Amino acid sequence: MPVDADVLSAAAVRTRIRKDPGRLRPVPHLLDYEATRAAFRWEDARATLDGLPGGGGLNIAHEAVDRHLLHGRAGKTAIRWIGKDGARRELNFAQLAAETSRFANALQALGLRQGERVFVLMGRLPELYVSVLGALKARCVVTPLFSAFGPEPIATRAEVADARLVVTTPELYQRKLHGLRERLPRLQHVILVGEGEAEGPGVRRWKDLVDPASPVFTIGRTEPQSMALLHFTSGTTGRPKGAVHVHEAVVAHAATGRYALDLHDDDIFWCTADPGWITGTSYGIVAPLVNGVTSVVVEAEFDAQTWYSVLEGERVTVWYTAPTAFRMMMKLGAEALRGYDLSALRFAASVGEPLNPEAVLWGGEAFGLPFHDNWWQTETGGIMIANYAAMDVKPGSMGKPLPGITAAIVRRTPAGGVEVVDTPMTEGELALRTPWPSMMRGYLHEEERYRKCFADGWYLTGDLAQRDEEGYYWFVGRADDVIKSAGHLIGPFEVESALMEHPAVAEAGVIGKPDPVVGEVVKAFVALKPGYEPGEALRRELLGHARKRLGAAVAPKEIDFRANLPRTRSGKIMRRLLKARELGLPEGDLSTLESDEK
Ligand code: WT7
Repeated sequence: MPVDADVLSAAAVRTRIRKDPGRLRPVPHLLDYEATRAAFRWEDARATLDGLPGGGGLNIAHEAVDRHLLHGRAGKTAIRWIGKDGARRELNFAQLAAETSRFANALQALGLRQGERVFVLMGRLPELYVSVLGALKARCVVTPLFSAFGPEPIATRAEVADARLVVTTPELYQRKLHGLRERLPRLQHVILVGEGEAEGPGVRRWKDLVDPASPVFTIGRTEPQSMALLHFTSGTTGRPKGAVHVHEAVVAHAATGRYALDLHDDDIFWCTADPGWITGTSYGIVAPLVNGVTSVVVEAEFDAQTWYSVLEGERVTVWYTAPTAFRMMMKLGAEALRGYDLSALRFAASVGEPLNPEAVLWGGEAFGLPFHDNWWQTETGGIMIANYAAMDVKPGSMGKPLPGITAAIVRRTPAGGVEVVDTPMTEGELALRTPWPSMMRGYLHEEERYRKCFADGWYLTGDLAQRDEEGYYWFVGRADDVIKSAGHLIGPFEVESALMEHPAVAEAGVIGKPDPVVGEVVKAFVALKPGYEPGEALRRELLGHARKRLGAAVAPKEIDFRANLPRTRSGKIMRRLLKARELGLPEGDLSTLESDEK
């Protein structure tokens, strides 16, 4: 939300952020916003890519990997992997081309056909990157899953997507997948990376199947509109939604990598996101590679000292991360940065949740760089609104729409259409003019839910925002009950359903409770069945149950007991009211309230 204009005017920021004159800055790709926007055409962005040889269409993996061999980058480092124990592995573009071809050949040998679904469930190992790109070469549809998901989110997603093959590690297989095999009869193949005990139907080892496969693979004809990636996202109710993305999305990944992240040939780029969330795929895999840029992959989870060492040691020039990480670093203070030489860093950006103005300013003071917030969603496939390298940062603002993207603030009309709101700083729903190359093409098997996202040629984002008189967008909040915790989108319904599985639980309502570091924490309110008494032991048991079913990233951190939960006349739990009461806010319109907790 806009804050005190005096303190945070662009000029004030410029003076508070020490620009390091010694820092090497190439000329930004987007130097003149208005002129670039006026001249931009998606056809031209498409023309910067190669297409498959002989007019064979457009394939993400060809653009990200193979084509670079024809442009003198064979020996250039594509992925620089840093393992948890300090191990390192570099894959140049030629090696990445060979490894991904081996994987594509292995899929074909197993009989996987075009369009069949491949799930990848593992930490950030090199094989994750090889699997995703190799499966795209084989024209399979890929879903990278977050390895901290518990069995329940994995099973629901595999059911919706009809997963045929999973690439994982023996440890994750044993812990999460083994017990799901009966529930997932269509899951035929499992490829295990690394050592460890694990057995089951169709379980094979990477070293037996992929390593010996041929490093030569010819990508078949790929229609730009054919399905490439399926990324799950959560709504307020119902099962998670599989957002369908097509091979043409690579056009947006290439262009937004240049404009919003200012990627240049010599950059060392680090996207800290896990590919289990779309940022880690679109910008942790595709965007840097398609631009021929070296990408750093860090297996370890967040730890400030480790991260500073990576920034220094790898001489990272462009860094894309999340506000939660900034806030954790902020908590440790600028002193923790002392002694690190971060002079290579020239551009830092963040996404996924609001970047508070204080964090932007702290970044300026601690790193000598303004932090550039940008905005997008699983559904948009790529960055849609951004603060650019060559423009003043307005701290607290998400920036301006990318070239090729038209945004607006709209209101839904009773007739089912939308009305554009032109008055500056008026709150409304953020909408984007359709289409663009990385726009989702559907929610898998959910036409109705997909259709509801569009009206009068606009995609409706479900976010509330404002636009100021200079065309910068300001995030206000979400229009629905979906929770954002540490940048991860969590559907309250998925959490409520897992709690309801416990024999003691009669009803559950789940909200996002504001938190100064992670944005929101998942908090559950639970009413018990007759015969169960609230108490510390049961609370712990329920927290443990949820954690086991959902995984640490999704499970609630807090549970409160209530005698009843507030419900509407149609029987829906009023999360809005639970939240208002939790925060001591006005309860709002209660005309639909049927039963109450009191
Ligand atoms: C939701 C989308 C960002 C891509 C990966 C996450 C929130 C995103 C910002 C921002 C405030 C933001 C929105 C959006 N969000 N960026 N810069 N400022 N909020 O995609 O998991 O589908 O989440 O994240 O609410 O709708 P996602």
